[in-house]
Amino acid sequence: MTKDTKNPPIDRVDGRMKVTGGAKYFAEFTMPSMTYCVIVSSDIAKGSIASIDTKKAENAPGVVGVFTHQNMPPIPGWDAPAQGNGNGPPPGPPSGGEKYRILHTNAILFDGQPIAMVVADTFERATYAASLVKATYKKQTARTDLAKHLADGVTPKGERAADYVRGTADGYKTAPITLEANYTIPIEVHNPMEMHGILANWESDDKLMIYAKTQGVKATQRAIAQAFKISPDNIHVHTEFMGGGFGMALRTWPQETAVVAIARKIGRPVKLVMTRSQMFTLVGHRPRTVQTINMGADSNGKLIGIAHAATGETASYEDFTEGTVNMTKFMYDCPNVSTRYKIVPLDRGVPIWMRGPGEATGAFALESAMDEMAHKLNLDPIEFRLRNYTETDPEHNRPYSDKNLKEAYQRGADAIGWNKRSNQPGSNRDGEWLVGYGMSSGTFNASRGQATARAILNADGSLTVQCGVTDIGPGTGTAMAMIAHNVLGVPVDRIKVDYGDTSLPNAPMQGGSTITSTVGSAVYDVCTTVKNTLADLATKSGSPLAGSKADDLTLADGMLYLETDRSKKVAVADLMRSNNLTTIDKTQQSKGGSEGEKYSMYSFSVHFVQVRVHPVTGVVRVSKAVSVADSGRIVSPKTAASQMIGGVAGGIGMALTEEAVIDHRFGRYVNNNLGDYHVATSADVPHTETIVIDKPDPYINPMGAKGMGEIALIGFAAAVSNAVFNATGQRIRDLPITPDKVM
Ligand code: MOS
Repeated sequence: MTKDTKNPPIDRVDGRMKVTGGAKYFAEFTMPSMTYCVIVSSDIAKGSIASIDTKKAENAPGVVGVFTHQNMPPIPGWDAPAQGNGNGPPPGPPSGGEKYRILHTNAILFDGQPIAMVVADTFERATYAASLVKATYKKQTARTDLAKHLADGVTPKGERAADYVRGTADGYKTAPITLEANYTIPIEVHNPMEMHGILANWESDDKLMIYAKTQGVKATQRAIAQAFKISPDNIHVHTEFMGGGFGMALRTWPQETAVVAIARKIGRPVKLVMTRSQMFTLVGHRPRTVQTINMGADSNGKLIGIAHAATGETASYEDFTEGTVNMTKFMYDCPNVSTRYKIVPLDRGVPIWMRGPGEATGAFALESAMDEMAHKLNLDPIEFRLRNYTETDPEHNRPYSDKNLKEAYQRGADAIGWNKRSNQPGSNRDGEWLVGYGMSSGTFNASRGQATARAILNADGSLTVQCGVTDIGPGTGTAMAMIAHNVLGVPVDRIKVDYGDTSLPNAPMQGGSTITSTVGSAVYDVCTTVKNTLADLATKSGSPLAGSKADDLTLADGMLYLETDRSKKVAVADLMRSNNLTTIDKTQQSKGGSEGEKYSMYSFSVHFVQVRVHPVTGVVRVSKAVSVADSGRIVSPKTAASQMIGGVAGGIGMALTEEAVIDHRFGRYVNNNLGDYHVATSADVPHTETIVIDKPDPYINPMGAKGMGEIALIGFAAAVSNAVFNATGQRIRDLPITPDKVM
């Protein structure tokens, strides 16, 4: 690939399938004699089941089985020898300490915990039978309110979660201008359009077919293999299309493993599709997090110290940790920085990464505080950031592999019309409405993992590229096609991409903004091998290019050319035919990692918003948004822009409406549906301009491409809050920014 050539904005390779119903999601698959599983959830949040009556459900029409802790079939990998506490954890938890085992004892650890799984021959019959299961409980008081239990915070294990100090921990205190502020993130729930679930069938004693909602078919395959102590090779997982993941499908949840066990027990395929309210309790959430920022600066706007302390919730049975305070460690040039991160175990289902996970939480605090300090200094917020700009990573004392944040600030400011912003809050009116402008930065680690890809070049010039990655929506298949096109010159419409199936070569889960870098590198490498194979054939005697050096050859439009004399050429099809080849078929594992020891690799973003605030009702509307991504070379500009717009939608929800509310008397949600928990819709999202810096990162991978999934969201909520301050003079530090807080 020529690194300084920008890529054209091609359409999604799967776009037509997605809009015509051709794309099949896991719940749409059926199998002969398939059954349907419905979960019965606990009515209490903490305590134990005193009795459970399943008789009526068992006798209901069409019921095949009712499973509770009294008759749940064993999950052999979970019944492995005890680890310390006599209760072996299920395999593959993403973080430490998991003890929750579904339908295992009568203990109730969190709201919504399954107490029974009912299986019937139709979904409606299973749903009806589930309504007949009756339990009585011994109730205990559930601890669900983080605010009340902040003192119970513990520092989780793991290097990056440890307390961090650069310079002096409380160096901010020596500054002439200081601020201290607390910021709160509520519980947020992923709420993708597609419900979570699984369809599993044991085709024989040790052979399984699975359709699932997962961000990684290979990861699901491994998790199920461990749970049932069978070879991964005997498990076929298929997830070609997914209706949004946002992090909730980054693990195999206990109820999915339970479905596999039940399918084995009853000897029939079992399908579980969770309900919307179960999506609030059984597949994780963004943890409620309370943060304090102390910041000190001198009168020239130079940062002297930042201290960032965060406390998030986790479950009583499992530690969940995320990178809430990471950004503070390296974002600005500041001699004294300290961070502290704690988690509090509560009687709640375990959280999981959600849309730009902890970094989005931390960025709200840091980027709000930067705005507050800029105001104290009477500086433009961009100017304040520029005075503390750093070209090297102060946390690791090494250069960034690539950073174009100054250019991003400038281009975003130009696009939003930043010059119309007054530094004086409340001074910009348009009729009844107060108008304000705000901005913020975001950043997320960029990396490159290991993956394997296969490329099959056919004599007719068409190409198939394969990798067992799951495309959760950003357009991974399109990016794979674009990269293959760039290496081999095969037109995109002659490239077929296969993904989302465990029969394909190995790839990691799609998460953490790594897949274009990781899978893209594998595609790049294997296509390069195909190209080199062609070049070897072309330079052999008998070919029009005999005697040429492979390095001097260029591949385009199905022809190999000598770069210095384009009249010397050979058609790929002819070359293959003359060598008696119908295909060139290569599979190759890419090397993982990159020059990560020498450079700090991050993607950066800048978000700008214009808000209109109604001073009487407190309504906030985001009236204009500009998001700028500095994430290396953009492989697929059209899907990249879509992803940035998705981040804006998620950011508007996070800023203005998204909050899962618990009634702490019962430890249960009161708004566990899409009517009461408002995810931003098209009506909430204004005209959004996306800008990409589109300069290749020289070190991360051969494409120079870094991830952009997380940075599309990270920081956005602070931009909105900062704009609300600019419009009204009201500083909202507690998300979401609902009208009652603004008035
Ligand atoms: Mo994501 S929160 O890496 O799915």
